[in-house]
Amino acid sequence: MSFDPAAIRREFPTLDQTVNGKPLVYLDSAATSQKPRAVIDALRAYYERDNANVHRGIHELSRRATVAYEEARGKVAGWINAPEPSEIIWTRGTTEAINLVATSWGLDNLKEGDEILLTVMEHHSNLVPWQIVAGRTGAKLKYIELDEQGRLVLDDLGSLLTTRTKLVAVSHVSNALGTINPVKRITEAAHAVGAVVLVDGAQGAVHTKVDVQDLGADFYAFSGHKMCGPTGIGALWARKDLLEAMTPYQGGGEMIQFVHRDHSTWAEVPHKFEAGTPNIAGAIGMGAAVDFLAELGMDAVAAHERDVLTYAMERLAAFDGMNIYGPTDLSERSAVVSFTLGDAHPHDISTILDSEGVAVRAGHHCAQLVMQHFGVAATARASFYLYNTKDDVDRLVKALDVVRSIFG
Ligand SMILES: Cc1ncc(COP(=O)(O)O)c(C=O)c1O
Repeated sequence: MSFDPAAIRREFPTLDQTVNGKPLVYLDSAATSQKPRAVIDALRAYYERDNANVHRGIHELSRRATVAYEEARGKVAGWINAPEPSEIIWTRGTTEAINLVATSWGLDNLKEGDEILLTVMEHHSNLVPWQIVAGRTGAKLKYIELDEQGRLVLDDLGSLLTTRTKLVAVSHVSNALGTINPVKRITEAAHAVGAVVLVDGAQGAVHTKVDVQDLGADFYAFSGHKMCGPTGIGALWARKDLLEAMTPYQGGGEMIQFVHRDHSTWAEVPHKFEAGTPNIAGAIGMGAAVDFLAELGMDAVAAHERDVLTYAMERLAAFDGMNIYGPTDLSERSAVVSFTLGDAHPHDISTILDSEGVAVRAGHHCAQLVMQHFGVAATARASFYLYNTKDDVDRLVKALDVVRSIFG
């Protein structure tokens, strides 16, 4: 399929509907993306034809389910250029992947006096697990600050990183601001002091092709539902040697080699971290999402999104009373525009836009430290994806006129 925005849009059935009597404009993909027919069809085909548990049954359906499930692991590994499919652990999403690392790696490796370096930009799912593990181990939390454009202040990275720093956790792309972080620079500096780096890729593996080896990451976490896949599925990639040394996150079926009365031994990686019946359909659906995006070509997707973002920034910046957060240099910004408008509360903005058929997010975006940094309780956020067009931006601006007519 070549990159034809109108044709791509037709692949997403949810986009073809009216909301409050107006054609839907969906600008909340940073929260979750819509799903193309290819993904919906893959889920249906699995449940209609191949449904069985994986790795257990010696029968045809189980064989088919296992092959499809493991093939999907390979596709997801390829998507981020992981050296081996076995380094991909299926999780419920980014949140569970980070909790896995915080609990398993964190409890094995952190002790009093150690330091965890986070950033003020992080989504709560890359903050709270580290606060919990710091509380349990006595490790100390430190933060990389933000500048006035919501970019990481890296001038003092050298002094923030010490021989006590054991882990750096940083988002690839900010969900609240769209800031694209210079992850490679951070991994190089972290490795120089012997720290490992977890990258929260929830907004990263979505818009561009990611290369975890080039980034120098040690852990990379991402979610299927933000990249055209189903909800309830995501992946943790980690270096094999780290995974092999880590204590399993959960115990149960599928993750053992032998069970004795007083102890058990573990299955090989990745199964050691996949206790219980996994989200088989979800994994297959995430594999289908990877196929869908790969066929379009991420360079074309990224170029289209850049086009729409550039147009959105121009039109929104020209809007009276508009305050846009995040980098002004669009090469540092993903397809997210977080804004406030005069005195209008972001929830009111979102409600009025919804009445015009335009779906945006309003709130703290699970990034309260970002809100505190900018001294606001909330922002409205329009986030764009491959199926959005400049017409959608025009509809957003037109709906904002309605907000202005009410709030002055
Ligand atoms: C940057 C970032 N990290 C983590 C998450 C959590 O992802 P999930 O809810 O899929 O686990 C999100 C979701 O919005 C996010 O945007």
